[in-house]
Amino acid sequence: MTDAITITMPDDWHLHVRDGDMMRAALPFTAEKFGRAIMMPNLVPPVATAIDALAYRERILAALPADSRFTPLMTCYLTDDTDPDDVERGFAEGIFTGVKLYPANATTNSAAGVTDFARIRPVLERMQKIGMPLLIHAEVVDPDIDVFDREAVFIERVFEPWTRDFPELRFIHEHLSTSIGCDFVRSKSGQVGGTITPYHLELNRTDWLGSGNRPYMYCMPVIKTEADRRALRKAATGGESCFFLGTDSAPHSIHKKLAIVGAAGLFNAPVAIETYAKVFEEENALDRLEAFASLNGPAHYRLPPNEGTITLERQTWTAPEEIVVPGPEERALVYRGGEAIAWKVAQVSFQDAGRG
Ligand code: DOR
Ligand code: ZN
Repeated sequence: MTDAITITMPDDWHLHVRDGDMMRAALPFTAEKFGRAIMMPNLVPPVATAIDALAYRERILAALPADSRFTPLMTCYLTDDTDPDDVERGFAEGIFTGVKLYPANATTNSAAGVTDFARIRPVLERMQKIGMPLLIHAEVVDPDIDVFDREAVFIERVFEPWTRDFPELRFIHEHLSTSIGCDFVRSKSGQVGGTITPYHLELNRTDWLGSGNRPYMYCMPVIKTEADRRALRKAATGGESCFFLGTDSAPHSIHKKLAIVGAAGLFNAPVAIETYAKVFEEENALDRLEAFASLNGPAHYRLPPNEGTITLERQTWTAPEEIVVPGPEERALVYRGGEAIAWKVAQVSFQDAGRG
C-alpha cells in the first residue's frame, strides 16, 4: 500500500473564489496547495474586459500572503458585446489566459452571458487566429430540454459544430458531468480538453436526492447517474491526456445555499486534491494522479508544468464543516465537511526538491 505520493505541483483549471471578504476567506485553501488556478470571471458585474481582469488580478494578488508563489490565471467573461480587439490585447499582454463562455442564465452569475451564439463568432475567429483557448460551460438553457440532458444537447447543437467550424480553436469542456461528454472530449482529443470536478467523481444523483435533499450537493451541471459517475472516474484515472483537474470550487454563503431557491456550487477547495487522491487510489491509479493534476492541463493550455512538488500522505484528518467569512456572507459550507479525509498534503516545495 502506498503511504505517500509526491507529484509535480498541481494546478486548478477551474476555480471560483469570488471577491472581497469571500475571496480572502476562500483563496488560501487553493493558494497553499496549487501552483496556478484559472479564476472564473462570473463576478457581479462580470470580469468582461482586460481592464476588469487586471483589476481583479490585483485584488487577488493583494489577498495572498506575502510569500505566496500562487499565480492566478485570468479569464474574460464572454458577452454578446465582447470586443475581439480587447480580447486580443488582453491575451497579448498576458492578462487573459482564456475566454469563458456562459450561455446566459445557465448557472450562478451568468445573466450577462451569451444569449445569441451567432454574435460571438467574430470573437471565436480572433481567438482561433491568436491561439487563445475557449472555456465552455457546455449546457443549453432551452426550457424544453430536461436539466439532465443539457450537456448532451449542447454538444450536439453547439459544441460539435464549432469544433468543425473552428478547427484550430482550442476548447475546454468545463466540469464534465456525463458519459456522453467524456466520449465527446475523447473523440476531439487535442482540440478539446475536459476538466473534471471532485464531486462529479464522487457523487451520483441518488446521493444528492435519494435520502433527503442535500443542497450542498447542488451544482451546475447537476450531478448525474451512477453510470455517468463511473464514466467520469474512468476518464479521469485512465491516463488520457485530454482530461485534467478543475475543481469548480464555488463558495456561497450558507444562507444562499440553503434558501428556497438555493445557489448552485460546492466549496471543495479545502479537500480538493485530497479527494482526487482518494478517487485515484480507489481506482488503483495513484500513479496517474500526477498527469491528471499537474501535466495534462498545462499541456492543453500550452504552458509549462509547475516546478515545485506536493507530497500527499496517508493521514486522516477531519474537514471543517464550514469556513467563517467576515461580513454579511457569514459562513460557507465545505464539501465533505465533517468527514474523515484519508489523504493530507504533508509537504509543499517550490523547487523540484521533494523527489528522492
Ligand atoms: O455549480 C456551479 N456554481 N456551477 C457553475 O457553473 C458556477 C458556479 C458558481 O459560480 O457558483
Ligand atoms: Zn464553475
